[in-house]
Amino acid sequence: MNNMYKDNIILGIESSCDDTSAAVLINGKVYSNVVANQDVHTSYGGVVPELASRAHQQNIVPVVDKALKQANVKATDLSAIAFTKGPGLLGSLMVGTAFAKSFALGLNIPIIDVHHMKAHVHAHFIQKPNENLKTPNFPFLCLTVSGGHTQIVLIKSSLEMAIIGETIDDAAGEAFDKAAKQLGIDYPGGPLIDKIAKDGDEKRFKFTYPKVAGLNYSFSGLKTQFLYFLKEQSKSNSNFIEENKKDICASYQSHVVNYLLKKLALAIKQTGCKDIAIAGGVSANSKLREELIKLGLQTNCNVFIPSFEFCTDNAAMIAMSGYFMYEKKLFAKQNVTPQARINI
Ligand code: KG4
Ligand code: ZN
Repeated sequence: MNNMYKDNIILGIESSCDDTSAAVLINGKVYSNVVANQDVHTSYGGVVPELASRAHQQNIVPVVDKALKQANVKATDLSAIAFTKGPGLLGSLMVGTAFAKSFALGLNIPIIDVHHMKAHVHAHFIQKPNENLKTPNFPFLCLTVSGGHTQIVLIKSSLEMAIIGETIDDAAGEAFDKAAKQLGIDYPGGPLIDKIAKDGDEKRFKFTYPKVAGLNYSFSGLKTQFLYFLKEQSKSNSNFIEENKKDICASYQSHVVNYLLKKLALAIKQTGCKDIAIAGGVSANSKLREELIKLGLQTNCNVFIPSFEFCTDNAAMIAMSGYFMYEKKLFAKQNVTPQARINI
């Protein structure tokens, strides 16, 4: 790699849950984004923390190596290493953190500790070398929906964010994954529900909304509602799930998406923001993407949807956060430790 870029080559590392990822950002543009998924959890119906940490340990060196090679960058070219400090599974976070710290120490370069949920928002600023995409203007709203979080975030500047609404219990991704489990669909169920729902009738089955004030959400009641719905229907037809899977998935998905966007619409009204975005694993959902575009038209807002690659966990978004922090010299100390829970 040409040394003129020397000042701004950031390696990003993500290991908060069950994906090991490394990415290289040169002058704010992404040159590689390698993700190793962990299939080991599928048969357990959810992420097994012990197995996740072990898989991260096996994956981290080859994933980083591949990311550097794809970007045509040598370790000695790096300006800084950004890594996920949290939130996430502690054992998983420890692998990425320890790797970033020791690699940076050996190279004598700074480390940057990144907040995973802020990084999901920063996915909207990732550009490939020849891309010149339109990015959201500040302040903007981002509905960040993942396996562990559901938040409406007001983004005031690249690093200044405030949560103005969030789930008081389960996350939207969890609502998808748990419903999928009840339908006998493998983990992670969200993408499969999305796929099965494509040919289903979303108006066939109705669910009710929980009463939660303001911009907050609740998904734990929906999980129980769905379980009783399946039990009740299966009493008269033991093949109910198999015979109606497409309509069940479409109706359930539509219900979750409408609920998510109902509160986002309220947030638009309250804040007057003109740019709206979605981020996090659930933002890969086709119904959510489709309905957000409609909401944008109804409210006269500009809509921002990340490309699929940058919706689910990836290190490019960590490197992007790292880029914004690097500009402000917000470096971490070598004694930094990962945190399972951490405020935005
Ligand atoms: O952001 P992410 O990769 O990891 C966390 O930080 O949690 O999000 C993972 C979540 C899982 O719950 C997964 O089922 C959900 O995102 N997900 C989807 C879709 N793709 C991923 N949910 C609904 N539809 C999808 N297409
Ligand atoms: Zn995530």
